[in-house]
Amino acid sequence: MSMNLVTTLYLIASICFIQALKGLSHPTSSRRGNLFGMLGMALAIITTVGLVFKLGSEIATTGIGYVIVGLLVGGTAGSIMAKRVEMTKMPELVAFMHSMIGLAAVFIAIAAVVEPQSLGIVKQLGDAIPAGNRLELFLGAAIGAITFSGSVIAFGKLSGKYKFRLFQGAPVQFAGQHKLNLLLGLSTIGLGLVFTFTGNLGAFALMLALAFVMGVLIIIPIGGADMPVVVSMLNSYSGWAAAGIGFSLNNSMLIVAGSLVGSSGAILSYIMCKAMNRSFFNVLLGGFGGAVAAGPAGAQEARPVKSGSSDDAAFLLTNADTVIIVPGYGLAVARAQHSLMELAEKLTHRGVTVKFAIHPVAGRMPGHMNVLLAEAEVPYEQVFEMEDINSDFGQTDVVLVLGANDVVNPAAKNDPNSPIAGMPILEAYKAKTVIVNKRSMASGYAGLDNELFYLDKTMMVFGDAKKVIEDMVKAVD
Ligand code: TAP
Repeated sequence: MSMNLVTTLYLIASICFIQALKGLSHPTSSRRGNLFGMLGMALAIITTVGLVFKLGSEIATTGIGYVIVGLLVGGTAGSIMAKRVEMTKMPELVAFMHSMIGLAAVFIAIAAVVEPQSLGIVKQLGDAIPAGNRLELFLGAAIGAITFSGSVIAFGKLSGKYKFRLFQGAPVQFAGQHKLNLLLGLSTIGLGLVFTFTGNLGAFALMLALAFVMGVLIIIPIGGADMPVVVSMLNSYSGWAAAGIGFSLNNSMLIVAGSLVGSSGAILSYIMCKAMNRSFFNVLLGGFGGAVAAGPAGAQEARPVKSGSSDDAAFLLTNADTVIIVPGYGLAVARAQHSLMELAEKLTHRGVTVKFAIHPVAGRMPGHMNVLLAEAEVPYEQVFEMEDINSDFGQTDVVLVLGANDVVNPAAKNDPNSPIAGMPILEAYKAKTVIVNKRSMASGYAGLDNELFYLDKTMMVFGDAKKVIEDMVKAVD
């Protein structure tokens, strides 16, 4: 395999990755995007293995056996996990994968530092590592270590299965936390620079230990419900770690793929923060979003609301010409998507125009509602993003809000003093009639009361979304 061929194949793989990102930006093209991603990754792996063989004759072929065993073990484990994972456990799986990328970056850096010739597999450096390469190794290893330990904590918080205090959804905070993080950050950079300029292995080891601790400390003050932003941020870190190591290995594929992951993760984190009306630093400094661990929280509201039964709701729905359904976190919790699809089908069959409105941060992970509806095979053409459907609410007969709260809270628009003031919302309050299903008057993720529930045109239907929707399906004959 000539170096020109390697470069060409890496270029094709890079284009595949770019196409994958493009495809994944819309539900209708997401399958194609995934295919491009798989193709790009297969090409990248085959080319890299070919490259190792080519250089192997000059350097050493002993490593290829390990590579093949690694591919088999990792590939089998990955495919089993991906097949078995439930939709609701997806963020955990992603957090776990990020921890592996971080750890891989750390291992490559350690191997290169301890045995510089190993770096020479693709870059014939000889025994001594130049300062420029030491800088790359320091950055790749430090970001990799932070990504690893941070992702492990994120995984624990998301799974909510473990008793260990640091794995609880509630934020862990103590006095002087931010100062300690700053001190650790500066010490890590200081030690990394000592290693860069002197090659001192002790400084490298200590730097690595501090980076592992820092990953833990950065994530523990962040509440379980904020974890999706954190996972996206760690995704970005893992990309930068891979790109850093790519420079050390002189591997253009790793640099391109790492940069794509790094920058797309950073952009996604920014988009999520913007849609939640929170600054990135506000999320990172933590102490918010612990409500998941605490259960449905918020002050019970004494004001009267109009409530009705599933039968009442079904009556309103069947007599409407146009219905917009707003799914939220509660729908995912109740796993009611299939019953909802059945309800939508029955209504459509009766001549009602049914649309689904998706808020960018409805649920607890990016695209949560899209995935939920796709799982129930809701046709894509019935699913609309917020900016495309907001102008329809004013002309809609009935809006059916299912387990959603913050994303339809008019306070974001009407109350400049509200903590969510300025957050874009689905303008459900503009519809002629609003039906809201939730279990109680408890608040949502942001812990706020919702004026929508008290409007004259709103009818609350209390109960678990699955039971309520199933009853509606029965009532719509
Ligand atoms: P929320 O505002 O959290 O409201 C969900 C509502 O569902 C709750 O009020 C709850 O009320 C109800 N609910 C829970 N279980 C239910 C069940 N089994 N049946 C029926 N209702 C149930 O959710 P949302 O409107 O989807 O908004 C998402 C929030 O999460 C936003 O504030 C967003 O900023 C935040 N967030 C989103 C993301 C991403 S990326 N999506 C990431 C982090 C944070 P009851 O307890 O009364 O039933």
